[in-house]
Amino acid sequence: MQILCKAADVPEDEPLRVELPDGHAVAVYRWEGAFFCTDDMCSHGEASLAEGYVENGEIMCPYHMGSFCIRTGEARAAPCSVDIVAYDVVEQGDELVIDR
Ligand code: FES
Repeated sequence: MQILCKAADVPEDEPLRVELPDGHAVAVYRWEGAFFCTDDMCSHGEASLAEGYVENGEIMCPYHMGSFCIRTGEARAAPCSVDIVAYDVVEQGDELVIDR
């Protein structure tokens, strides 16, 4: 288990990029009152998904507007076709934790 950040650090509908101690970056989302987490790097190119925006439970990549489900990491819109990793987020007190 790894601590991501404080729950209060994640704005509604605006992803937060978090770099883990091993250098791997993830994007954390607060959407409709729940928290989600995926890898930050788009599977189509060198884009940080945390610079995109969330719409209908999908993160829209800022480069070519492909999208992924923030709950499962499933690629939902072209040009993205390779899924990204999604992590279960657990709230522990005022902190968010993922199993990675
Ligand atoms: S880099 Fe993300 S859609 Fe192309």
